Amino acid sequence: MFHPSALFLLVICSFLVSVTSVERAASLTKVSIYYESLCPDSIDFIRDELFPNYEALKDRIFIDFVPYGKASQSKSSNGEWLFRCQHGSPECRGNKYQACALAQKKGQDANVNFVSCVMSSADPSDSEEIRNCAVSNGFDWQVISLCYQGDRGNELLAQYGTRTHSLNPKLRFVPTIIYDDVFDQTLQNESLYYFVKAVCSKLSQPLPNICRKN
Ligand SMILES: *[C@@H]1O[C@H](CO)[C@@H](O)[C@H](O)[C@H]1NC(C)=O
Repeated sequence: MFHPSALFLLVICSFLVSVTSVERAASLTKVSIYYESLCPDSIDFIRDELFPNYEALKDRIFIDFVPYGKASQSKSSNGEWLFRCQHGSPECRGNKYQACALAQKKGQDANVNFVSCVMSSADPSDSEEIRNCAVSNGFDWQVISLCYQGDRGNELLAQYGTRTHSLNPKLRFVPTIIYDDVFDQTLQNESLYYFVKAVCSKLSQPLPNICRKN
């Protein structure tokens, strides 16, 4: 027989569980990554620092990819966005494809796996490589493709551009890693080669296991 107090406990417990998960979500450390698709330092960071350590840190961080870097943007007389990228137009293509994929909001794991797959590929601006990474991580290539070819891709890239251009202090190095929206040069330097150490210094107790090893 089910006692009414058991039901009461059940309700209390599920209330506590939901409060706990809200608190968890609120305490995620935001890690913004300002990068560009063909930049060797961006590739190194994402492939060698972010990707290998992501699994151990993912419950504690919110990854905010900003694929734009040291590009510039302007509007033509007929209102079309024009972009120039540090490593030429192929880099703009890679950035825009990533912007279109991120807009699908497939979730953080899918985004990190997709971006890492592209940035670890032989050519992060190559649409075949990008397509393979998109499909293998559950993204809809048809949607990415249409976004890329249309105005949507330009709008998304321009939004990343506006965010990048409004950084204070101005973006100097690519990639720039910013924790909880506040640039810190020491953490920036540390992040490039000791990402785990940098992230761990921003987390509250209890620290994940990986923080004890570093
Ligand atoms: C960060 O690294 C740059 C380049 O290596 C160096 O010039 C600068 O002094 C470093 N800044 C800090 C705060 O560690």
